[in-house]
Amino acid sequence: MSLRNAIKKRTPWPLHYLYLKLYYFPKDAVAAWRLLSRRPAAPDASFAARLRLIGAFYRISYFVDCPHTEHELLSIAQAILDLPPELPGSIVEAGAFRGGSTAKLSLVARLAGRELDVFDSFEGMPENDEEHGKSIYGREHRFRRGSHAAPIENARMNVARYGDISRTHFHKGWFSETMPGFKKQVAAACINVDLVQSTRDCLKYLYPLVPKGGVIFSQDAHFPWVISLLRDDAFWRNEIGIPRPEIPGLGASKFVAIRK
Ligand SMILES: C[S@@+](CC[C@H](N)C(=O)[O-])C[C@H]1O[C@@H](n2cnc3c(N)ncnc32)[C@H](O)[C@@H]1O
Repeated sequence: MSLRNAIKKRTPWPLHYLYLKLYYFPKDAVAAWRLLSRRPAAPDASFAARLRLIGAFYRISYFVDCPHTEHELLSIAQAILDLPPELPGSIVEAGAFRGGSTAKLSLVARLAGRELDVFDSFEGMPENDEEHGKSIYGREHRFRRGSHAAPIENARMNVARYGDISRTHFHKGWFSETMPGFKKQVAAACINVDLVQSTRDCLKYLYPLVPKGGVIFSQDAHFPWVISLLRDDAFWRNEIGIPRPEIPGLGASKFVAIRK
């Protein structure tokens, strides 16, 4: 067990939560300010609605185990609310875990007037023999089969309790089995799946569904194995059928956006 996990296990949750919020405050505050300071394109996203959204994000993070930072989800929320309302498509989340990010995205989907389609095995990571190791921040990671396993009922309950279940559609199973039959247009896709093979599957099946003006986010761009995939000209050319796109911040940030 890493020192970070050992401290997490021994510290009472309210204290640990406070520590996380203070530690990330500079980045979270900037993202919250950006979301509040300019009215986005979505007509229902008034100042009061955006303020409530930020409050809901902090509440969800307190009650649900969320392996993401507030500023990541706030930046995603801002980008989704800024999509032109006439751009067709739902929001897709690949990698839901316990449904903390799902609940947040369902609230963003409501403000944007869109549906949310959620893909996860709900059995954790698939079998894989990928070489993992240190992220660009120096932390060690290894994603064995079954890590991040959480039952779908858990995610459903968290979305029903803290988000908007009425616009959330769950697709349970391995991406390679559930995504090929998915044919909706995708205005925004949020990929948070840790593995190269899973990222590859998501891009292969989701990229063609994104119309011009849509966006795909990866929250795994702090992993050198995902960075290598995103920098691989042959992958983009042979598997996606396009030249490698420009991805601002790739190699320097956990969170990147691929705009179409
Ligand atoms: C880091 S967790 C997602 C965290 C979540 N977005 C959050 O912030 O709360 C990664 C998720 O991806 C799922 N996953 C990874 N590869 C998958 C695959 N090939 N098929 C289905 N689910 C997969 C795992 O089950 C896990 O729930």
